[in-house]
Amino acid sequence: MTQDQLKALVGHAALEFVPEGAVIGVGTGSTVNHFIDALASIRSRIAGTVSSSERSTQRLQAAGIEVLEANAVASLPVYIDGADEIDAQGCMIKGGGGALTREKIVADLAERFICIADASKQVAVLGAFPLPVEVIPMAAAQVARRLQALGARVVRRSGFVTDNGCHILDAHGLSIADPLAMECRINQWPGVVTVGLFARNRASVCLLGTAQGVQTLHFAAAPADRTEPKSA
Ligand code: 5RP
Repeated sequence: MTQDQLKALVGHAALEFVPEGAVIGVGTGSTVNHFIDALASIRSRIAGTVSSSERSTQRLQAAGIEVLEANAVASLPVYIDGADEIDAQGCMIKGGGGALTREKIVADLAERFICIADASKQVAVLGAFPLPVEVIPMAAAQVARRLQALGARVVRRSGFVTDNGCHILDAHGLSIADPLAMECRINQWPGVVTVGLFARNRASVCLLGTAQGVQTLHFAAAPADRTEPKSA
């Protein structure tokens, strides 16, 4: 099977995690596009969606699926999204498509993050995929210097502006042994909007597309002493 066929496989498999009558969170990317196409077939069975990007919003609306503002919901039962890398604890690098900030906002509203990914996304240690960091433009040079001090080679994503009007720095060459610690550290730098590490908002479940079919992986939540309670 091709990579796109594996993405389609997990995109369709994710329907099983869509609760009847619920508003659900929808991510961004080519794997999620397959999920949106599948979701269209059961659109009358959900109450709506909260979208993580303008691109997904357009695709959802074109499929006749209602899109609600994130501020209109207090919580979501599930958020379904892809990943650029996922490790054995369900921690992820996301933001290859540049939607990391809205993805993290919608993921934070959700009780469960269902990651849909082809098998190439599964890694032992995060970091072979360049880590995206969304920055306020005036802080870009200083944030780049801080990333370089961590050992990264930093490339500004040329000609790309996020849905929030910000820039993306891609940090190459990191080997991220403790994703939660690195997420907390980078998040605190002035001018960082979002780092594309999803350790606090890690996957609860990953539907992994393999040549043998869909593998379902379950993960424990992030350690409670290092995260805010969801209601905080
Ligand atoms: C977008 C993302 C995507 O989930 C990630 O890039 C995976 O994309 P794809 O499904 O196209 O491989 O984080 O910001």
